Amino acid sequence: MGRLTNKVALITGGASGIGAAAARRFTAEGARVIVADVQADLGQAVAAEVGGVFLHLDVAHEPDWRKAASEIHDRHGRLDVVFNNAGVVCGQSIEDVDLATWNRVIGINLTGVMLGCQTGIRLMKANPGGPSGSLINTASTAAYGALPGDVAYSSTKSAVRLLTKAVAVHCARAGYAIRCNSLHPGATDTPILAPALQAAPQLISAFNAMSPMGRMGRPEEIAAMAVFLASDESSYVTGAEMLVDGGMMAGHPGI
Ligand SMILES: NC(=O)c1ccc[n+]([C@@H]2O[C@H](COP(=O)([O-])OP(=O)(O)OC[C@H]3O[C@@H](n4cnc5c(N)ncnc54)[C@H](O)[C@@H]3O)[C@@H](O)[C@H]2O)c1
Repeated sequence: MGRLTNKVALITGGASGIGAAAARRFTAEGARVIVADVQADLGQAVAAEVGGVFLHLDVAHEPDWRKAASEIHDRHGRLDVVFNNAGVVCGQSIEDVDLATWNRVIGINLTGVMLGCQTGIRLMKANPGGPSGSLINTASTAAYGALPGDVAYSSTKSAVRLLTKAVAVHCARAGYAIRCNSLHPGATDTPILAPALQAAPQLISAFNAMSPMGRMGRPEEIAAMAVFLASDESSYVTGAEMLVDGGMMAGHPGI
C-alpha cells in the first residue's frame, strides 16, 4: 500500500477491463485517479467507486486532449502518470479491412497513445519539482506475433512498441525524469473479447490455451504491472517492454 501516494494518474480506457482494474489498484496504492473514456456511464461509475474524477476523452481527438490538459492543470496542478490504455479491435484481415475502420483503429490505438504521451510530457515538464512522471502504453502480445484476422490491431500494437522507445529515449536524453514503457498483455478476460466470444464461444478454450498456464490473464494481473511502472520502484526502467502473458511468448509456437 502507498506505492503511488501523492501521484496524480490519468488512465485512458478507465471505464472497463484493464483500465478499470488499474483505477482500483492505483487508488488502493494512494494515487488520485482520473478515469478517462468515451463510455460516460461506466466511466463515471468507476470514478465514483474509487473517489476519482471522470473525464470524457476520445483519445483520437486532439481537442479532447487539450481540454483534459487544462482541466488536470486547474484541478491538480500536476500529472505524474499517464496510462495510455484505451484500445479497440476490429476483427478484419487485410482482404476485408475498409479504410474508415483502418483509420479508426490507427486513430485510437496509435495516434491516441502518441497524443497521450505528448500531452503527458507537456504537463509533467511543468510539475512543481521539475520534469517527472511515468508514461505507460498498453500494447499487446500482438506486437510480436500478428493476428492475421486483425491487421489494424496488430499494426498499431507493434507501432506502440517503438513509439514507446522513441519517447523514452527522447525524454531521457533531454534530461527529464519522465519514463515511458510499454505493457504487453496476453489474452485477458475483459469485455474487448466479448464480441469474438459471442460469435464463436468455443474460442474460450483457444484463448485459455494460448498461455502455457492454460488460462487467460485477469485484469488485476495486468494492472499490477502498471502499478510497478507507475511507481518510483521502476525509476531505472524506461523504453522497456513488459510482457504479462502467463508465458505465452516464452515457448516455441505449436510445440
Ligand atoms: N483483453 C485482452 O485480451 C488484451 C490483450 C492485449 C492487449 N489488450 C489491450 O488492453 C487495453 C485495454 O483493453 P481491455 O482488454 O481492458 O478492453 P475493454 O474493452 O474492457 O477496455 C477498453 C476501453 O477503452 C475505451 N475506449 C475505446 N475507444 C476509446 C477512445 N476513442 N477514447 C477513449 N477510450 C476509448 C473503451 O470504452 C473501454 O472502456 C487495450 O489497449 C487492448 O488493446 C487487451
